[in-house]
Amino acid sequence: MSIAEQPLSGDLRAEIRAIAQAEPHPRGASVAALRLVQAHMGWISTPHLNEVADVLGMSAADLDGIATYFNLLFRRPVGRHVIMLCDSVSCWIMGRERLCAHLCRTLDIQPGQTTADDAITFLPIVCLGHCDHAPAMLVDDTLYGDVDTPTLDHLIDTLREPPP
Ligand code: FES
Repeated sequence: MSIAEQPLSGDLRAEIRAIAQAEPHPRGASVAALRLVQAHMGWISTPHLNEVADVLGMSAADLDGIATYFNLLFRRPVGRHVIMLCDSVSCWIMGRERLCAHLCRTLDIQPGQTTADDAITFLPIVCLGHCDHAPAMLVDDTLYGDVDTPTLDHLIDTLREPPP
């Protein structure tokens, strides 16, 4: 059975319950609960989404609507690291397309795909609110501005290092 199909642990379910209890309505805990699952599992599979919906007392369709609305919640498997390159207007003006082409060439993938070694997923994302330092990107939880190709190359080398 893959990790995506394994039931959530009792501890994780208890954590989700605790988050929900701190909210006036369990629905208010949906994003935090999904982020918690993603932090443990890497992404949010349908069986896990169904379990979270069950704990929160929501319909799976409702919760899925929330999960698919937020760019930082992944409903498909991703690599160990995720590079999200802004594709909004300031970054376009400041050379985002050149960086996109460089990433695709270096990683040998297209936007939306994961490298063969499962190290890096490359995704486009809307404005990161870092327009004064365009072009910008988010790598896992770290925001980068004034991105250029040497920065990308250095980052890719670091991200490709195998996990300890
Ligand atoms: S347009 Fe790219 S950070 Fe705002």
